[in-house]
Amino acid sequence: MAKIAPSILSADFARLGEDVKDICDRGADYVHIDVMDGLFVPNISFGAPIMKSLNGIATAPYDVHLMIVDPDRYIENFVTDNTEFITVHYEACDDIAYTIKHIKEAGAKAGVSIKPGTAPEVLDDYLEDIDLILVMSVEPGFGGQKFMDSSLPKIAYYKKKREELGLDYVIEVDGGVGAANAYLVKDAGVDLIVAGSAVFKAEDRSAVINAIKE
Ligand code: DX5
Ligand code: ZN
Repeated sequence: MAKIAPSILSADFARLGEDVKDICDRGADYVHIDVMDGLFVPNISFGAPIMKSLNGIATAPYDVHLMIVDPDRYIENFVTDNTEFITVHYEACDDIAYTIKHIKEAGAKAGVSIKPGTAPEVLDDYLEDIDLILVMSVEPGFGGQKFMDSSLPKIAYYKKKREELGLDYVIEVDGGVGAANAYLVKDAGVDLIVAGSAVFKAEDRSAVINAIKE
């Protein structure tokens, strides 16, 4: 069993409210909010006003994924009554310990993400302070890419570390996961699965959500 956070990057932006209500009604555990600045990643998505327009519509909490340089500038903008996690990229921060503390002081749980080329050990010194680790299984920037199985040993690494150290952070994976390959990340020990195109482009969204979770 895993939880699911559908990424609204693959939703119909002209009907965003309806799409978000729909996936919440069908069992989404979180609403994954992909924020891109055109600098950290070669794409621009949307910012806090779009996310905030979903307050009162989304019945699942937000799982915010900031793919932006120097995220400390914007953390407060993403804290709302419906925000649970704010995740920043290790590669985008000068002082990740400071940013983790900043997110918590702003009133959210702190997540840290690593890109496919980043070794999992870079977070070793911070594990006790992290609430969520997001392992990227594609290069961040776009939905609909192919899953990279180099993410699997990283998920297993963080699961082992969590056991050894007696910690309780959430392990999340993002990119290229759908009903057909979700077993791979679940077998590796993931707790929370992001799925964008697999959910929003599906003919039967409930079937995909259930298959990914089970
Ligand atoms: C990629 C984003 C992902 C993306 C996932 O940079 O962080 O959350 O929306 O989309 P799929 O599931 O289609 O790979
Ligand atoms: Zn994401």
